[in-house]
Amino acid sequence: MFVTVETAARTAPATVIVAIDGPSGTGKSSTSKAVAAKLGLSYLDTGAQYRAITWWMLSNGIDVQDGAAVATASAKPVIVSGTDPAAPTISVDGADAAGPIRTQQVTAAVSAVSAVPEVRARLTELQRTIASSAERGIVVEGRDIGTTVLPDADLKIFLTASPEARAARRSGELTGKEAADLASTREALVKRDAADSGRKTSPLAKAGDAVEVDTTELTLDQVIECVVTLIEEKQSA
Ligand code: DC
Repeated sequence: MFVTVETAARTAPATVIVAIDGPSGTGKSSTSKAVAAKLGLSYLDTGAQYRAITWWMLSNGIDVQDGAAVATASAKPVIVSGTDPAAPTISVDGADAAGPIRTQQVTAAVSAVSAVPEVRARLTELQRTIASSAERGIVVEGRDIGTTVLPDADLKIFLTASPEARAARRSGELTGKEAADLASTREALVKRDAADSGRKTSPLAKAGDAVEVDTTELTLDQVIECVVTLIEEKQSA
């Protein structure tokens, strides 16, 4: 078989599990997808799964502030994630959830739902099953991947960026009715990070053995290159 030097250099051998954690607006999703595509790995967006279960709760009239009600209902929705980095998918009870999970309503409710231990236990199990069945390996992005979901990951990355840079990136992603001014986007983002970092069960945290990458001054291509290089270094060590 003919393999170009470029392809050979960019193909991670054997199975590799990469955990990418960090707050929102650090470029986690774009980086994780691009790295997975470059290295021929699967990709899992665990935030989309927390959003999907939140959307199901809201659609089924569950009070998301009522932890006991959320816990009781948490086993009901069937959540399926497609792990092709070129076209990741998410469905709930067979319905495509990619659009509805990105609304402001879901974004405002997701921290409350994801703080419920039963929700975390269920999704953690699902995430481990998906990761262990990825043939060539997988890039998994979230908040607690390196600390809780996949503590034995081959490489753990923790992405950070200043609140200003994160708010500017998030504002750029929002359109039409959802678009907010920079100050309120920053405020909502800082509030959600505080809730995600402050919860009792597997909060947003950097694993002791994670490599921290501050993306404030970096372009997306630079972050991708940095992560790919870290994976290649790990593989050749
Ligand atoms: O990455 P995101 O913004 O789409 O994530 C949505 C929410 O899901 C985030 O506010 C916290 C929660 N989340 C979590 O608690 N644990 C994860 N592994 C991923 C996301």
